[in-house]
Amino acid sequence: MLNDLQKEILQLKEQKNAIILAHNYQTRDIQEIADFLGDSLELCIKASEITDSDLVVFCGVDFMAETAAILNPEKKIVLPDREAECPMAHMLPASDIRKAKEKYPNAAVVLYVNTMAEAKAEADILCTSSNAVAVVESLSEDQILFGPDMNLAGFVRGQVDKEIIPLPEEGHCYVHKMFHTGDVVFMREKYPDAVLLVHPECDPEVQDDADEVLSTGGMMNYVAQSERKTFIIGTEVDMVTRLKHENPDKIIIPLLSEAICENMKLHTLEKVKQSLLTQEYRITVDKEVADKARNAVEGMLRVSIR
Ligand code: 13P
Ligand code: SF4
Repeated sequence: MLNDLQKEILQLKEQKNAIILAHNYQTRDIQEIADFLGDSLELCIKASEITDSDLVVFCGVDFMAETAAILNPEKKIVLPDREAECPMAHMLPASDIRKAKEKYPNAAVVLYVNTMAEAKAEADILCTSSNAVAVVESLSEDQILFGPDMNLAGFVRGQVDKEIIPLPEEGHCYVHKMFHTGDVVFMREKYPDAVLLVHPECDPEVQDDADEVLSTGGMMNYVAQSERKTFIIGTEVDMVTRLKHENPDKIIIPLLSEAICENMKLHTLEKVKQSLLTQEYRITVDKEVADKARNAVEGMLRVSIR
């Protein structure tokens, strides 16, 4: 049952011809009013398909809203809370990529979608955690500058026969850094029959201990299709919220209930309502930057939508 504020938001959304996109890490009350809920790749694909809405309220972090703005320069893309930034996306300035390109002139630049638009404009192609291996394999170059997440870079290195150079050396997500092997040992002992799914932003030793390393969208598909009953989830806690809701017959447990992305949680229903009313906090990208970044985003979409 939706509450009064949620109902009001849905009415406003109709009046304003708006669409609400939300990442899997949003709280349940926002998950419930989203037109589309998904991982970074699914949200990029959805953003590339928007045709009949004038306003997009993006319940995610800055780089996600920027990607939607790059793909839809004529539309109004708004963030309910303008402070919703992904710290990892700010760890790789465009100037560092230009320097690295001078040092490695033969390398291709593959950037995680968790980067800001100026950095994206320096990339040959983007990737997300669900398609990083396929993107790297689609390239003819054997040397790849890969950033900003060093753990995703390590995950890709383990799957491809290419040189992967992390850029910067220590780019990371503070939420996925919270998981340690001790958490895995503890939870495996407590739930010996559970399947452990972790995100590729986790440290390598946590990835090594997991049964599967998957994007949040990959986790959704895995749990839905699995015959197993119990799953331990090594990513942000509201992924567990969505998994539980959509798989009521299964037991879904967070690897660590403190793994909260405070940045994602800045959005609230009240702020979503305000953004529909005021259309404040519009995310825009300079045209020259957006044109270059769009090539890199579209390159990724060509690899992913086949
Ligand atoms: P996903 O693409 O797996 O949803 O990951 C996005 C993200 O920010 C993970 O922290
Ligand atoms: Fe960024 Fe980590 Fe939050 Fe994802 S979970 S948005 S990578 S800070």
